[in-house]
Amino acid sequence: MTDATDNAPSAPQISAEGLFLSFGKKEVLKNFSLNIGRGESVVILGRSGCGKSVFLKCLLGLLRPDDGKLFWQNRDLLKERGAPRELRQRIGMLFQSSALFDSLTVWENVAFGLLATKRMNRAEAYDVAIERLAEVELPPETALLSPAELSGGMKKRVGLARAVATRPEILLFDEPTSGLDPIMTRIIDDLILGSVKSLGATAITVTHDMQSAARIADRVALLHGGSICWQGGVDALAAPEDAGNPSLLQFVRGESRGPLALSAEKE
Ligand SMILES: Nc1ncnc2c1ncn2[C@@H]1O[C@H](COP(=O)(O)OP(=O)(O)OP(=O)(O)O)[C@@H](O)[C@H]1O
Ligand SMILES: [Mg+2]
Repeated sequence: MTDATDNAPSAPQISAEGLFLSFGKKEVLKNFSLNIGRGESVVILGRSGCGKSVFLKCLLGLLRPDDGKLFWQNRDLLKERGAPRELRQRIGMLFQSSALFDSLTVWENVAFGLLATKRMNRAEAYDVAIERLAEVELPPETALLSPAELSGGMKKRVGLARAVATRPEILLFDEPTSGLDPIMTRIIDDLILGSVKSLGATAITVTHDMQSAARIADRVALLHGGSICWQGGVDALAAPEDAGNPSLLQFVRGESRGPLALSAEKE
């Protein structure tokens, strides 16, 4: 599958159709379309500033496209004025900057969704938070720290533990492994894979790490010029010359010249 118009094989769980989103005169998403099947792991690649995080925020309902359709199965989220609360609670998101609540302890951050949505009492939520922290190799002693006391990589891992805490149906990971050492990167990749393969979640991950992408993705989509300019199987990352797409080839090889240079010049 190498054509940007191809669809995911099964009926999509999430379907973006012709999204447009601008900030003032800056057009970020331009006719952006992407289907994601239930239980699929899709990695979105693209140059810095091309709109990857903006798309994830649209899915979460934090940003509202100016035009287009955004379906969750057969519900058009944009008609319902932002992702309704009930759907948002079924999404777990790791923000690029981790975005932890500074006024809460580590365990309270991780347990935030459990306390808000599952009506667990604090003792139960604490126990689950400790389990989730262990999944990202953070010991129980971390639980009572405040985010300010954590290293950058530890914050990222707490953000991940929070994203997966309620075992949500849909996981959005914005650069889950940036700033992590290679061993931790592998552990996080395995956590993402486990969430998809064992727990049946649908995952959309933005990453610049090609090794991670190759490990976790069923499908890869390249965002450029506001829309998906290529999508296909993960094998294309190992042999981009076979995909027949100059943008993908340039991106995977990290070459400064090529079709993707244009967006950098505009920035
Ligand atoms: N809230 C906002 N207000 C105005 N402009 C924004 C806002 N959020 C994003 N942008 C702009 O939208 C464009 C896309 O931003 P986005 O954060 O999606 O990039 P990205 O692809 O995630 O890049 P990176 O790989 O660096 O994280 C950028 O030009 C950015 O300046
Ligand atoms: Mg981003």
